[in-house]
Amino acid sequence: MPQPSNPMQPATAATPSTPSKQPGAARIAIRGDLLDFTAAPAWAEPESTAVRWRPDHWLLIEDGRIAGVQALPPGPEWQRIDHRGRLVLPGFIDAHVHCPQIDMIASYGAELLDWLQTYTFPAELRHADPDFAAAGAKRFTDALLAHGTTAAVVMPTVHKASTDALFAAAQARGMRLVAGKVLMDRHAPAGLTDDVEQAERDCRELIERWHGRDRLSYAVTVRFAPTSSPAQLAMAGTLCKEDPTLYAHTHVAENRDEVRWVAELYPEARSYLDVYARAGLLHRRSVLAHGIWLDAEDHAALADSGAVLAHSPSSNLFLGSGLFDWTALAARGAAVAMASDVGAGTSLSMQRTLADAYKVQALRGQRLTAWSALYAATRGAARALALEDEIGSFDPGCTADVCVWDWARGSVPERRDELARSLHERVFAWLVLSDERNLVSARVAGVERFRRNDPP
Ligand code: GUN
Ligand code: ZN
Repeated sequence: MPQPSNPMQPATAATPSTPSKQPGAARIAIRGDLLDFTAAPAWAEPESTAVRWRPDHWLLIEDGRIAGVQALPPGPEWQRIDHRGRLVLPGFIDAHVHCPQIDMIASYGAELLDWLQTYTFPAELRHADPDFAAAGAKRFTDALLAHGTTAAVVMPTVHKASTDALFAAAQARGMRLVAGKVLMDRHAPAGLTDDVEQAERDCRELIERWHGRDRLSYAVTVRFAPTSSPAQLAMAGTLCKEDPTLYAHTHVAENRDEVRWVAELYPEARSYLDVYARAGLLHRRSVLAHGIWLDAEDHAALADSGAVLAHSPSSNLFLGSGLFDWTALAARGAAVAMASDVGAGTSLSMQRTLADAYKVQALRGQRLTAWSALYAATRGAARALALEDEIGSFDPGCTADVCVWDWARGSVPERRDELARSLHERVFAWLVLSDERNLVSARVAGVERFRRNDPP
């Protein structure tokens, strides 16, 4: 048995385990440096007992689920795939991203409200065409997989066809996806608005068709408070109340002009977040993007509700929205998950997103460890989405959404990798210096859905 190819030792002892055998079951064993989390790492602690590090181990996958991990090679009934010397992680979870916006990512020169009018709404209008939406959804889901993201909370457009297309594309790829038609009945161009009655009919039809089917869940998706009337917010809240297994997905307190506008539109609410709370949209399955301009009372309300804040650092830097106060939310015990927020975010790469999160915290005088960052893109996001039993870790029984990464590509990352003296140093350098070009293979429920085309 070869020794681990790096100097760091496992944080936990390896327990060889041979799972029970089922005749005819598809059995795959992947060899590599396995890294995942057993719990939430403490804030700002590079030495963490929550990190489960099993270098040069075998990850056993049976019928699309994690069956176990062992140090010794499994028997001949297992198909062995040797990725020794590579990093093996649970697939990333992107907690907030926009499917149609890969067409206008990296658009120049605007803050949020101008950016929506100038670039975003025109791009989303094109998804009224079902063929265009279907092609876009396929491109988008393939792109997620090519970046090592196997699960996501996604906004399509206001059009029912774009939601159908997105769910169908995720279903065809076996992905875990949370999504829903975007609700907007005002302050947007004709062609991008619905009305309360039609929106409710569309939502009910889509929920019936997709919610709980395979690995898909429906999210009642208010784009943000300015583009929904109070009546539409109330309708959205009623849907959530009727079925607590539904998610809610929206934006909150991203930009100062936006926050001022919401205060004008909803003078009765104590805060922007309170607009959603009053409508019944702040609950255990709520996903709220950004949350930069929240106060202590909002932080407490978020924590108490069990909702998750989808932190979108790349987007926040790109649009100049502000610096998210992660420590305040962490101190209050609110859940934070990582989000690319493409197309305001400038990459679907979770490593780039995490590196941007580190830089945002650095600007606030805080240090984000590789562990807190990675946890928020894997097990932490899964837990926040009430999906911890399914995704985000290598716990036996979880669905085998697994990605294999090169530790380093190119002379500078390779040199840095060689010189790393601790596991945290090594993983932190990987997180800052790598991107989707490091991805070798992405499996969804055990099935390889992306493989890098390396020259022979
Ligand atoms: N707020 C409302 N819509 C959007 C959007 O599409 N992107 C971002 N970043 N913020 C929003
Ligand atoms: Zn967004």
